[in-house]
Amino acid sequence: MKNKVNVCVLGCGRAGMIHARNYAGRVRGCVLAALCDPSEENLLAASEETGVKKLYRDWRDVMKDPDIGAVIVVTPTQFHHDIVIAAAEAGKHVFCEKPMASTEAECDDMIEACRRNNVKLQLGFMRRFDRSFRRGRQMLDEGLAGKPSLIKSNTYGPSEPKEWMYDVRRNYGPIGEVNSHDFDTLRWYAGSEVRMIHAIGSNFRSPEKKQEYPEYYDTCTVMLEFENGILGVITGAQYVQYGYDARTEILGTNGIIKIGSQRAEAAEAVTADRVIRADSMDSWRTLFIEAYQAEAQAFIDCILNDTEPPVTGTDGKMALVLVHEGLRSILEHRPIYLNNGLPEDNTE
Ligand SMILES: NC(=O)c1ccc[n+]([C@@H]2O[C@H](COP(=O)([O-])OP(=O)(O)OC[C@H]3O[C@@H](n4cnc5c(N)ncnc54)[C@H](O)[C@@H]3O)[C@@H](O)[C@H]2O)c1
Repeated sequence: MKNKVNVCVLGCGRAGMIHARNYAGRVRGCVLAALCDPSEENLLAASEETGVKKLYRDWRDVMKDPDIGAVIVVTPTQFHHDIVIAAAEAGKHVFCEKPMASTEAECDDMIEACRRNNVKLQLGFMRRFDRSFRRGRQMLDEGLAGKPSLIKSNTYGPSEPKEWMYDVRRNYGPIGEVNSHDFDTLRWYAGSEVRMIHAIGSNFRSPEKKQEYPEYYDTCTVMLEFENGILGVITGAQYVQYGYDARTEILGTNGIIKIGSQRAEAAEAVTADRVIRADSMDSWRTLFIEAYQAEAQAFIDCILNDTEPPVTGTDGKMALVLVHEGLRSILEHRPIYLNNGLPEDNTE
């Protein structure tokens, strides 16, 4: 068996470059052998930064390259389905960023193509590799808080929404943009699927968009009930300006586990005017920098050791269902009942 995997990163944008930097030198057992992006500017900038010389403009050509053993799919979400299917059929292992695809049916196709062609499929929920989130999981397993009863998780992002984000029927709004990670975290910690989801949302920070996009919301709260009885609350917001804020709390029968902090560093200044000053976390790119590296290492290890990926296509699909059903709940102003995490009409 080969002891190194040749990797190609497809999509050299914001998230793609995090992966490219990791595969270019911070991950054992692989070589960043090629890059692919139709944007000449992004491709050349990525090549210059990583030193990778084999460059593709069209992902179809990557599939014909016998030297590439694995692809890292970090293109806009609408392309994930076609690329993952083609990669599986070309016998290449796949890491795919979240959201996995646009529909649950596409997720099913992708899972089935990877299974049929015997290639690995790992999904990009990097919080599962974050040291604090992993320690929280370990504390839960050790029973430090007793039996879990209520899991609360928030993600608030600082940036002003891009124009395309206001159309929530196509792009989901914060429930998809920022909370898909919270859905995965709650499923992971609860160890169960969702049976009820009820979400509400409202637009507080972009009043000038209310007329053109009456359904747009920048703040939401989601109540969940899991099949095993555990309760969940997720809150989400965009354009909060003060920084990137991702924290989770597991309330147990006799204790609580708190994960994450708003602080960027464990340093603070107390000034003569009796004010405490500390830096707040600016971005997911900073907060999860080590988690992305550990995630990439886990992907290469599962290929080299022929083990199950730690985050699967099913995890990607189940989080997508919760994004879809959560948005439906917001737009229809009602709770949605699921059958073991799936819409009622998808469970036979
Ligand atoms: N895990 C996370 O926390 C996280 C964070 C950010 C983004 N993402 C996901 O990563 C994906 C990319 O998001 P982004 O923010 O990096 O977007 P981006 O717009 O910054 O980058 C996308 C890149 O893909 C390229 N591209 C477009 N079409 C392509 C194609 N057909 N083939 C190859 N490349 C193509 C673009 O030119 C661009 O360079 C999305 O699915 C997004 O949801 C995940």
